[in-house]
Amino acid sequence: MSEIRELYEANNQGHVFEFYDALTDAEKTSLEKQASAIDLDEIADLTARLIQTPDCQDSGFSEAVEPAEYIPLEKNEGGDPARWVEARAKGEAALRAGRVAAFTVAGGQGTRLGYNGPKGTFGVSPILHKSLFQLFAEKILASSKIFARPIPWFIMTSQSNHDDTITFFEKSDYFGLPSDQVNFFSQGVMPAVDEEGKILLAEKTQIALSPDGHGGSLRALVRSGATRQMEADGIDIISYFQVDNPLVRCIDPAFIGFHLEGNSELSSKTVSKAYASEKVGVFCQRGEKTLVVEYSDLPEELAEATDTNGELLYRSGSIAIHLFDRDFVHRLGSGTGESAQLPFHLAHKKVPFIDSKGKINAPEAPNAYKFEMFVFDALPFANNPIIIETAREDDFSPVKNARGIDSAQTARDDQLRQFARWAAGAGIKVETNDSGLPAAAFEISPLFGDTAERFASSWDALENKTELTEGVVLA
Ligand code: UD1
Repeated sequence: MSEIRELYEANNQGHVFEFYDALTDAEKTSLEKQASAIDLDEIADLTARLIQTPDCQDSGFSEAVEPAEYIPLEKNEGGDPARWVEARAKGEAALRAGRVAAFTVAGGQGTRLGYNGPKGTFGVSPILHKSLFQLFAEKILASSKIFARPIPWFIMTSQSNHDDTITFFEKSDYFGLPSDQVNFFSQGVMPAVDEEGKILLAEKTQIALSPDGHGGSLRALVRSGATRQMEADGIDIISYFQVDNPLVRCIDPAFIGFHLEGNSELSSKTVSKAYASEKVGVFCQRGEKTLVVEYSDLPEELAEATDTNGELLYRSGSIAIHLFDRDFVHRLGSGTGESAQLPFHLAHKKVPFIDSKGKINAPEAPNAYKFEMFVFDALPFANNPIIIETAREDDFSPVKNARGIDSAQTARDDQLRQFARWAAGAGIKVETNDSGLPAAAFEISPLFGDTAERFASSWDALENKTELTEGVVLA
């Protein structure tokens, strides 16, 4: 019996090799490879702690939690415009020195959107239906040109969308970015288990594996060699964003400046929650530690609690935009330092599996547990974490659902509103409704202008100014 099979037998997971003897040599090797990548002690520990004694799970929420402090936007109450000017200049200098890389987590399965393909390939821009990946590529290219330094872009995929993601970039010629500026790596996986912690088989040759959560990005950055490559290239700031947000400023000088000024290992952007039940985590403080309490863990009465001004008390929403210090990622991602390991969270899901008779079961109710890490759980480990406020309309309009809130339609409208604001700011007459939505849909490419100011200067320089009528694209 092979060593790995013996190990599984000894750990009460021998059923994984139930059909092994009837497999071809190639199938045997593949199953052994999958099995060897799983840390059985970790699975046993997670089963005992999270599944069998669920009260042990730390949701981050406790009585001692208070709303976290943040740096207000320059235009908002308490904002200090001079401080923002200084931060912007500092960030621009770091960009000109080539210290920044962009990083997108794109390993999620996009189940809620119901789109068949890597989420980043989903078309979102109003006229040309540019994909999320294309918008990010063009924003990164625009910043690379402005700061005269190629900004490397790291993209984390998952096993199931890795090849499709790369093919998409190859077919589109990397949207104008030099191909060696774009780096792909796949995130880690965790097996799905039943209530007793038994690892499920998806097929006779295949363990039921799923991505280890966006928190897995830290160890994937280390394992893939990305942090070492960054070190060799003089990059020490990683600009992290999710694949689902077409409005994100992939590279934001002011944010970078605040991160550097505060000597922060992990900085975050916040917007005030739009309504109490909005599905975003909230930034909180527990003693000295900053943390995000996920929306599903914040008790309803606290989500709805208001302060003396009638504003939501826990309003500081996390929009999953962060800056990581490279050495911090390396420390946490390689699990060095005292208890430097992100916790796992449990998800109870429907997972099809093969039973001991070799029959495929498609459960109608959740039958299995998946283990995921969340990237914001890195916050309590970080020294000097900084949170800055950002304007929702310029940084956050996620595409999560097929329709309704946070859908392709809302993201399209938010892009149009941004284009209309920029146009109005440049003195162009644009007819809009009360919500700022322009009557005629037009599109501004990030390469024409990726901020209000850069749009205005490109517009100024444009010789043949067209009217911004339906379908016009400024590229
Ligand atoms: C997430 C955050 C929430 C935040 C909100 C902002 C969690 C648990 N919650 O919610 O606090 O306010 O976004 O929009 O994340 N991903 C991977 N690999 C994985 C899982 C996810 O790369 O294994 C990526 C996805 O591709 C996506 C991002 O992580 O880019 C977000 O994942 P998702 O599960 O959609 O998070 P939300 O519940 O929407």
